[in-house]
Amino acid sequence: MADLSIDFAGIKSPNPFWLASAPPANSGEQIMRAFDAGWGGAVWKTLGDPIVNVSSRFGALDYGGQKVMGFTNIELISDRPLEDNLREVREVKKRYPKHAVVVSVMTETRDDWRVLIRRCEDAGADGLELNFGCPHGMCERGMGSSVGQEPRLLEEITSWAKEFAKTPVLVKLTPNVGDILEPGRAGVRGGADGLSLVNTFKSIISVDLDRMVPEPRVGMDSTNGGYCGPAVKPIALHMVASLARDPRIGIPLSGIGGISNWRDAAEFIALGCTSVQVCTAVMHYGFRIVEDMIDGLSNYLDERGMKSVNDLRGRAVRQFREWGELDLGYQLVARIDSNKCIGCQLCVSACHDGAHQCIFTGTEDRKRPPHAHAPHVMAKAPQPQVIGAVAGTRVPWVDEPECVGCNLCALVCPVPECITMEQTSASALKGDTWNRRVQEGRNKVPGGIHEF
Ligand SMILES: Cc1cc2nc3c(=O)[nH]c(=O)nc-3n(C[C@H](O)[C@H](O)[C@H](O)COP(=O)(O)O)c2cc1C
Ligand code: SF4
Ligand code: SF4
Repeated sequence: MADLSIDFAGIKSPNPFWLASAPPANSGEQIMRAFDAGWGGAVWKTLGDPIVNVSSRFGALDYGGQKVMGFTNIELISDRPLEDNLREVREVKKRYPKHAVVVSVMTETRDDWRVLIRRCEDAGADGLELNFGCPHGMCERGMGSSVGQEPRLLEEITSWAKEFAKTPVLVKLTPNVGDILEPGRAGVRGGADGLSLVNTFKSIISVDLDRMVPEPRVGMDSTNGGYCGPAVKPIALHMVASLARDPRIGIPLSGIGGISNWRDAAEFIALGCTSVQVCTAVMHYGFRIVEDMIDGLSNYLDERGMKSVNDLRGRAVRQFREWGELDLGYQLVARIDSNKCIGCQLCVSACHDGAHQCIFTGTEDRKRPPHAHAPHVMAKAPQPQVIGAVAGTRVPWVDEPECVGCNLCALVCPVPECITMEQTSASALKGDTWNRRVQEGRNKVPGGIHEF
């Protein structure tokens, strides 16, 4: 069985699955139950000054029958007394010495950072996570994401923390920036031992159209919240991958954002993460989801012949490159399995209204739209037209020379593997890239803005 244990900048944990700093990691009692359920580590709900919160404070986005695709909150940092939290940190570390207990911290002045860090470390924290990500409430007071959005400030406060801390310092980044590399590199310059990302996205999740108040509602008022959950995963993955590719980063990453199962976790690890953190999925389904995460990741590693999580880490980073480096000669075409097709015509409307107008139904020839590439002015149905066992003449056919292989029809088709994208024979462009064209002066082409 593969070894799931990790070493994150010196912080050891029996597996890469950590609770993110949030309500599931708000007390020692919860964190101990989480460790019993199988979680390898926890980042304590942020400790600092404001011991106050509002009601209500959560909102959710349901989509197409799926509850909580996206989640929002306007909660501040821990509203429990610091003394209680620190006593419980000590208790958890005493009972679970092999699990990772990182304490998230956020405060204002240099002196406050010194005191807070000392007190957390005295309580036994294995490491600290600086919360430079909270996009509501705290940022209005110059903390959280307002630090995360100012690389020089982030660098300076990180260097204070490094000066005071004896344990590893993780910097938790806000995704509310134009380019995640800037705060990431600032954290590295400040001496951070690791980066955690993402915190939540500044957002308004919905508007109550009867009361005319955005959600979540505090009386008859509201404010922007922090968005997270499955809906944010793609953006978080992109940000993680950008940092993992950058030679100036080079410190461990803790991936956060919409992780709900082992596959999500494996994707973050394959894009360069050492640990992953989870909040929304635990708030939705409870601590027990970690059992499947452990089994799933472990089976996956075994099946792939990988001996440890380290073997998976960063495996997909090399395949992530600039658009300009992609092979312009790689060409796919949509093929329809007429025996699986149910004749719903979703692919037809998708291709006609949202793609390249090259799927037709029936046996008759179709006139190509005026913008079709010459010489395909008339699309010819394959002869004889394949008739499906289920859908009869409602089975569509693809005018292959016009298909650009965009994937849309395959994405909307409700029948698994009914439309497959297949590679066509090697094109003359094989191996050509946009960057090469630019280098060789071939980037100004007929059909563009230049006259020939
Ligand atoms: C209700 C709630 C409270 C949160 N509180 C904190 C916090 O105190 N400190 C922090 O760094 N992040 C906080 N977060 C952000 C989470 O740690 C995490 O970065 C974010 O939710 C993305 O992960 P997810 O998609 O798994 O929820 C909070 C998130 C939620 C939903
Ligand atoms: S891959 Fe795109 S262009 Fe080709 S048939 Fe499907 S939707 Fe149309
Ligand atoms: S190929 Fe798929 S989307 Fe198109 S008609 Fe058949 S079942 Fe519907």
